[in-house]
Amino acid sequence: MGSSLSKEEVFSLLKKLSEGIGPSGNEGIIRELVIDEVRKVADELRIDTLGNVIAVKKGSRGSGKLMLAAHMDEIGLFVSHIDDRGFLRILPIGGIPERSLVYQRVVIKTRDGRVYRGVLGLKPPHVIKPEELRQIPEMKEFFVDVGASSREEVLNMGIRVGDIAVFDRELSPLIGDRVTGKAIDDRVGLAVMLKSFEIIESPELDVYAVATVQEEVGLKGAEVAAYSITPDVALALDVTVASDFPGVSEHEWCTQLGKGPAIKVADGRSASGLIAHPEVVKMLIKVAEESGIPYQVEVLAGGTTDASVIALNKEGVPAGVISIPSRYIHSPVEVVDLKDVLNAIKLTKAFAEKTTYEWVSSLKERRIK
Ligand code: CO
Ligand code: ZN
Repeated sequence: MGSSLSKEEVFSLLKKLSEGIGPSGNEGIIRELVIDEVRKVADELRIDTLGNVIAVKKGSRGSGKLMLAAHMDEIGLFVSHIDDRGFLRILPIGGIPERSLVYQRVVIKTRDGRVYRGVLGLKPPHVIKPEELRQIPEMKEFFVDVGASSREEVLNMGIRVGDIAVFDRELSPLIGDRVTGKAIDDRVGLAVMLKSFEIIESPELDVYAVATVQEEVGLKGAEVAAYSITPDVALALDVTVASDFPGVSEHEWCTQLGKGPAIKVADGRSASGLIAHPEVVKMLIKVAEESGIPYQVEVLAGGTTDASVIALNKEGVPAGVISIPSRYIHSPVEVVDLKDVLNAIKLTKAFAEKTTYEWVSSLKERRIK
């Protein structure tokens, strides 16, 4: 087991996870990678009906459950039409912005597991009106060119309506500890969960590491996993917006790269996503300070995580989020800092080891009369 934690090790796990093809509803490739990672260290391991992977590490107390959740799915595309000349039309899976598709290369996975490359072509500047050059095309205007010349050729490749595509992008190092790639949302949260789950030592609570499906299309996997587990406390591990780049004024920055994992206070428009349980926020801050782990406190103006639905499970669950600051989320060039990733792993481990049954019990329903 060992509690070794090197940047190289984290990078290679993140690379494997990030480069896997796994849009919402088609997480199979990522699921296999997750099972490979947790198999050796989990006391129990199961896959539920929707495809969530649930790994359990038994605690010393024999009662009380901490649920960790990180989503396996990424944003992507469905093939919605194949035309006579072999071009594919597409529809979005999750929040994939049109402007992130301009001139991209994608990988298409057929239902029988074949993988092809395609490009999202557009008219060259030579043949379009100047005003059109400045516009972002609508989803229905995009098409994927797989190199075929007819519908028949595409069908012979095994590509059908309903097959899926994601950005074609390697995870690559920038300088220092920064890395760039696709699907860092949320393969980085997944890497944090898998690495911390591996090195958590003698927790008091049972620790449930849940690799969820279909987060990007409505937090669906987490909802049923929480129902089946009935956790006493929960943490989602996901990316948050690092907005420390040109074009965003400093007073609008949500988090910064390299300044540590973020402890979430709230997210969603007008705080409609999650308002983290105040005692969970306090405990995360306390654990970070006691363990000497740098952290930021985050209030995010839009978007949310699996913690929002877990918090509403049954009679309610005290829930929080450890976020990994990430630039350019929902693009093929997301950027994170491996220092933040390592510190997020340390914080998750420390939280799991320091939370007690007595503490979670103190957060439960209290009868007044
Ligand atoms: Co996302
Ligand atoms: Zn996410």
